[in-house]
Amino acid sequence: VEIRREDYRPYPWKVPNTRLKFTLGLGKTRVQAILDVEPNAAAESSDVLCLNGDELTPLGVWVDGSPLDSWLMDGDDLLIPLTPGKHEVGIDTEFSPAANTKLMGLYASNGMLCTQCEAEGFRRITFFPDRPDVLSRYRVRMEADKAKFPILLTNGNPIESGEGADGIHWAEWEDPFPKPCYLFALVAGDLKANRDSFTTMSGRKVELGIWVREADLPKTSHAMESLKRAMRWDEEVYGREYDLDLFNIVAVSDFNMGAMENKGLNIFNSAYILADPDTATDGDFDNIARVVAHEYFHNWSGDRVTCRDWFQLSLKEGFTVFRDQSFGADIGSPAVKRIDDVRTLRMIQFQEDSGPLAHPVRPDSYIEISNFYTATIYNKGAELIRMMKTVLGEKKFRAGTDLYFERHDGEAATCDDFVKALEDASGVDLTHLKLWYSQAGTPHVTARLEQTGGKAVLHLRQSVAATPGQPVKKPMAIPLKTALIGEESGAEIASERLILLEESEATVEFDNISEPALLSINRGFSAPIVLDVDRKPDDLEKLAASDTDPFARYEAMQELMLRWLISTAKGETVDPQPVIRAVGDTLRSNQLDSAFKAEVILPPSESMVGDRMDVIDPAAIHAAREQLRSVIGRDLSSELANAQRGGGQPGHDVSAEAKGARRLRTVALGLLAAGDPANGAKLAKAQFGAADNMTDRQGAMMVLASLEAPQRKEALDAFYARYEDDPLVIDKWFGVQAAAQRPDTVDQVVALAEHPKFNPANPNRLRSIAISFGMNQWAFHDESGRGYRFLADLILKADKLNPQVAARLVPPFGRWQRFEPKRAALMRTELERILSTPGLSKDLYEQVSKSLV
Ligand code: ARG
Ligand code: ZN
Repeated sequence: VEIRREDYRPYPWKVPNTRLKFTLGLGKTRVQAILDVEPNAAAESSDVLCLNGDELTPLGVWVDGSPLDSWLMDGDDLLIPLTPGKHEVGIDTEFSPAANTKLMGLYASNGMLCTQCEAEGFRRITFFPDRPDVLSRYRVRMEADKAKFPILLTNGNPIESGEGADGIHWAEWEDPFPKPCYLFALVAGDLKANRDSFTTMSGRKVELGIWVREADLPKTSHAMESLKRAMRWDEEVYGREYDLDLFNIVAVSDFNMGAMENKGLNIFNSAYILADPDTATDGDFDNIARVVAHEYFHNWSGDRVTCRDWFQLSLKEGFTVFRDQSFGADIGSPAVKRIDDVRTLRMIQFQEDSGPLAHPVRPDSYIEISNFYTATIYNKGAELIRMMKTVLGEKKFRAGTDLYFERHDGEAATCDDFVKALEDASGVDLTHLKLWYSQAGTPHVTARLEQTGGKAVLHLRQSVAATPGQPVKKPMAIPLKTALIGEESGAEIASERLILLEESEATVEFDNISEPALLSINRGFSAPIVLDVDRKPDDLEKLAASDTDPFARYEAMQELMLRWLISTAKGETVDPQPVIRAVGDTLRSNQLDSAFKAEVILPPSESMVGDRMDVIDPAAIHAAREQLRSVIGRDLSSELANAQRGGGQPGHDVSAEAKGARRLRTVALGLLAAGDPANGAKLAKAQFGAADNMTDRQGAMMVLASLEAPQRKEALDAFYARYEDDPLVIDKWFGVQAAAQRPDTVDQVVALAEHPKFNPANPNRLRSIAISFGMNQWAFHDESGRGYRFLADLILKADKLNPQVAARLVPPFGRWQRFEPKRAALMRTELERILSTPGLSKDLYEQVSKSLV
């Protein structure tokens, strides 16, 4: 069944209060719910109360204290006839958390109980209007065996607790803030807290707790520091203060996504909480800061102001990703952060936008909402907010968000409400940007600079390719930060200005241009577009050395490499010297920091090259990229060797300098190994052995994993033996092998899937193979088709356990139309095989059927 945005109707009932009583157990949990309901004056009245359920049967229903027999089931939903007016509705249910492999609702993980309710998990706990526009005040009583579940947590503040007979204890909590049920959370288990506190800007003291298994306590300090920084940052940058007396985070090892912003009780995938230098990379540390901040920021952009319906998901997710990106830029290097965020956007969102699963930031329909937690909703949504900020400027944007929070506090709002608040506060009309909410597809812009004497004319042209359901596209409003760089001086001869391209074509003039000009456009990636600039390799080389915008400088280098890679993959012979010179200059620069150097000299991924070609030939692309890597490795061996030796800060030093040096070390190691595999293997083994931190250790293992050398197995075995009991590190061990650039990677993953530690029921472990392999273009697209068969089998196996996670593994298949006919046919065959399998979940059905169109 397809749900459509235009069908939205307010719910006929209000539920001002919800009381829940949980009698908790792993094998069996009982839930007694009492809802206060009353007619919603803003909706059409109804004489039934329709409550959503999922795999539940009511044990008993009461209305105003008396048992009721006249309830009905309509599919999974419970229908209760009600006369007009206020009522108290009681419902008892019972289910088995241990049998809940979907990890939605209340489930068991590692002997503890926890919940995930967004988007539609609450209906697996009790019958309820499971939609984000029904806000209710919750009072929750939890009862459990004290020995097994000494800690009982839920949203809000603890009110009362006590002990009963037979080792039972109980606790009652109340959340003063009305919330939709997707923000409900409950945790029961044997947990210990890293406790701290935070004093808010108005002087209120908030108790902070990060709850984990006792052995993991030493790995929680980075998450705690990140949380406090995020709390301060949201006060300083958005004027947002925390609102409860306590804020708890719980880490669990079985989790479908990254983390969840439940009011006052965030629940996290342990991968985004636990870290120390011995087991987590610098990238992991950054991800923890990012996700902790993201979930914390949701307290305002998500919880205090929530979404009216799930089509508005980007209202909270796009905005919150934008907020976490800005936080990341403020606490680290803004240039490197931007490069990183754009890389993610291009690798994932651009592929989504150009394939069969393309959808707008605010979709018009869905079959299963879980499938819409996508890079388009999250990352393109964030780019849209960034464009609004670019157009408004810092001050007006802040006035707009202030008004948004004030106007909609305690409400379920829409994307239109958000834009309206920005417009009302700033006095600026943003209508032109709103098309980005409804029109899918990545705009392509071509730019050409024409110069005669002191005058330069910029010619711009845009187009958006058709996407499913949107055959004809309108021109979009595209904000392009643009400057001109002097070819000789290397200085800005026309300083940066914001060009708004609104029509399909436009020209822009620059006067008083004193020397030949180079075009620096879409600086800072001001718009999420694909840009095709008419430029000579010479120009790119100069821009790579002199552009005054660091992002544009990175772009120039990427473009230089991309062009070489595309031509070479097409069988042309191209001189790599311009690339070598630019990489060499970058490595030798005294002005650039190591982190930036590392980003700039890393050749674009094989899938990024593929995205820019009409027909993707994975083997040719792989060969081209390997050729480039080996030329760089050979011609710049001394610069790279310096970089690989450089830094030398101890592993526990997580300053920007130390992290940058480590990043550059492994990038340099990879290039050195491409140039001279035997020597590379030696260097890698030495880096592996000497490493006092996971970044260097995993980096070396990654490089070795793609080599044919005895050191490869030595390192993999040593790594496994050392970390056998640490699941998050063993995930890395699987992931590195599934990402390896080897002709036999398919055989490797087939074998890994039989490894005793491979468990498809654990999402992190499943993804450690499936996501890494699906993104490994050369290996996944092995011409035998065995890679396709392997992943399809794994998806089918996972679908029986956890449809939501299985469905998220489909996108690599969705690119089938982009490949040469033989591979395209093999990919289609696997999609068809999945689709014809009986008992498919609707999650998987939606992704696969749409991928075939
Ligand atoms: N709201 C969460 C976040 O981005 C994601 C939860 C998604 N859960 C799901 N089952 N789709 O912070
Ligand atoms: Zn989020």
